[in-house]
Amino acid sequence: MGVIPEVTLSSGHFMPLVGMGTASHPPATPEAFRTAILDAIALGYRHFDTASLYGTEQRLGAAVADAVRQGLVRREELFITTKLWCTDAHADRVVPALQQSLRTLELDYVDLYLIHWPLSMKKESKFPHSKDDLLPIDLKAVWKAMEECQRLGLTKSIGVSNFSCKKLEQVLSFSSIPPAVNQVEMHPVWQQKKLVDFAKDKGIKLCAYSPLGSNGTPWGTNDVMECQVLKEIGLKKGKSVAQVITQVVLRI
Ligand SMILES: NC(=O)c1ccc[n+]([C@@H]2O[C@H](COP(=O)([O-])OP(=O)(O)OC[C@H]3O[C@@H](n4cnc5c(N)ncnc54)[C@H](OP(=O)(O)O)[C@@H]3O)[C@@H](O)[C@H]2O)c1
Repeated sequence: MGVIPEVTLSSGHFMPLVGMGTASHPPATPEAFRTAILDAIALGYRHFDTASLYGTEQRLGAAVADAVRQGLVRREELFITTKLWCTDAHADRVVPALQQSLRTLELDYVDLYLIHWPLSMKKESKFPHSKDDLLPIDLKAVWKAMEECQRLGLTKSIGVSNFSCKKLEQVLSFSSIPPAVNQVEMHPVWQQKKLVDFAKDKGIKLCAYSPLGSNGTPWGTNDVMECQVLKEIGLKKGKSVAQVITQVVLRI
């Protein structure tokens, strides 16, 4: 695959532009998961995305440890993201939640820690959540605790996910450490133009999730992979639709 280009975050750290997600539906078997991560590392992937919600932190950490033991890669060459789930989006639970994620991943630090959604949920609520579990988030208090995670060296950079321009404005208004990344759904049929312009202006990097539209999942759409224009471009360029999409998303 060759070397994946990187982007410099506002924290001064580098983030590889192409990453591999670990939230699949249905979940991969343990052996398929391990093989996928090891093959991805061998192919040149360095950026891996997990979350406490996904239940993949332990498997990702184990596969990474294997890759390091085999000499495929050094830990410092990897970029690992995990996320704060809404039940832990309470000021006093943020640092312990990241410490728990690190224990599960068997890592000393992650490269990026994200607030998964701009929401809190009742601490005791369990997935799948109901509407009654939702609480408004105390964004300032939660963000201050995210900053503490970075100061403690538990994460190299901090950021958010699924945040609108308005929510980002709020965080920027009280942050000492601004969010380095906003991870959002983004693909050729959902280009997030307003958010892209806003993020560029504020020095926040957008990270696109579900770049193929999460096709084939109960919540995703086939509109991206079935898009006629993308198919025509693929035919002309001798590339698959997924390869065309990767190029489009990298240019947005
Ligand atoms: N921050 C958030 O709230 C959030 C939300 C959603 C996702 N994410 C992250 O983003 C990652 C990717 O998102 P996603 O899994 O929803 O999206 P996606 O990459 O858009 O879609 C995954 C689907 O595409 C299929 N696929 C993969 N490669 C393909 C190819 N070359 N040609 C045709 N189909 C292909 C997969 O099928 P197979 O399974 O058969 O390979 C799977 O059904 C997740 O794993 C997670 O880490 C974050």
